[in-house]
Amino acid sequence: MKTKKEKKSILQTILPAWLRDKIKKQLFKILLTNYTYKQDGIISEMNCEFINYPKFKLAYSMGKKTGSWGGDIHWRAYVACWAAQLCKFKSGDFVECGVNRGGLAMTILIYTNLFETNKKFYLLDTFNGLIESQITEREKKLGIHAKGYSDCWYDVCNTFNSFSKTVRLVRGGIPDTLRLVDSNQIAFISIDMNCAAPEIAAAEYFWPRLVSGGIILLDDYGWPGRLVQKNSFDKFAKERNIEVLALPTGQGLIIKP
Ligand SMILES: C[S@@+](CC[C@H](N)C(=O)[O-])C[C@H]1O[C@@H](n2cnc3c(N)ncnc32)[C@H](O)[C@@H]1O
Repeated sequence: MKTKKEKKSILQTILPAWLRDKIKKQLFKILLTNYTYKQDGIISEMNCEFINYPKFKLAYSMGKKTGSWGGDIHWRAYVACWAAQLCKFKSGDFVECGVNRGGLAMTILIYTNLFETNKKFYLLDTFNGLIESQITEREKKLGIHAKGYSDCWYDVCNTFNSFSKTVRLVRGGIPDTLRLVDSNQIAFISIDMNCAAPEIAAAEYFWPRLVSGGIILLDDYGWPGRLVQKNSFDKFAKERNIEVLALPTGQGLIIKP
């Protein structure tokens, strides 16, 4: 019985490098012709007709209009919409920690029609990028940095101006601003700050206020270079006898028992 390594070296002897390369390219082409989704780190042949659901299409286009995203993030946005919609029927308010220009928050707001309810949607951010001192040496080595964000406060105020009954903008650094969320019951939290320390601080602060069945959605959990965030949330979950569900979108899903 030949080992994998032996079989590989036989193939290498029989087929010249140029032919192997050609076959590889052809195979890749064939494999790629059947994809239904190719964006945001995912190539998939799964059904993703949700992209064309009118309700999602409208919400996504409103989110995209904020100029938050470099490329498209349909599947990530859809997961967030799905989770938020489920939490709409729970008691408690919505929170996003890490908002930037409000792309995901706007998508969720429109998809759930949250403004037709009495719920509040608290949006917490410096609106000016990450806080350098919160990024650990390990995170820096993994490629996390504070650069790349400009002040977007006035744009965000304009974006959510017509939703003032529902949206509460909270400007400043987490954890200092957490106490400004004047709600004792939270149903849905989206966490997306690219940095473990403020993310864990937010999760720990809101956990006692999160209702049973409430959801924490982690945007960065499985992304390359986000190992500090992943390890921190795995520890957070373990301490509470639960597990984070890793999604192929790179997101992590926590449901409070
Ligand atoms: C990736 S962006 C959020 C994107 C947004 N969730 C979306 O998809 O539309 C990360 C945001 O986290 C914010 N942030 C990072 N550290 C923070 C902290 N300690 N306090 C408040 N905001 C913070 C940054 O200002 C930045 O706007």
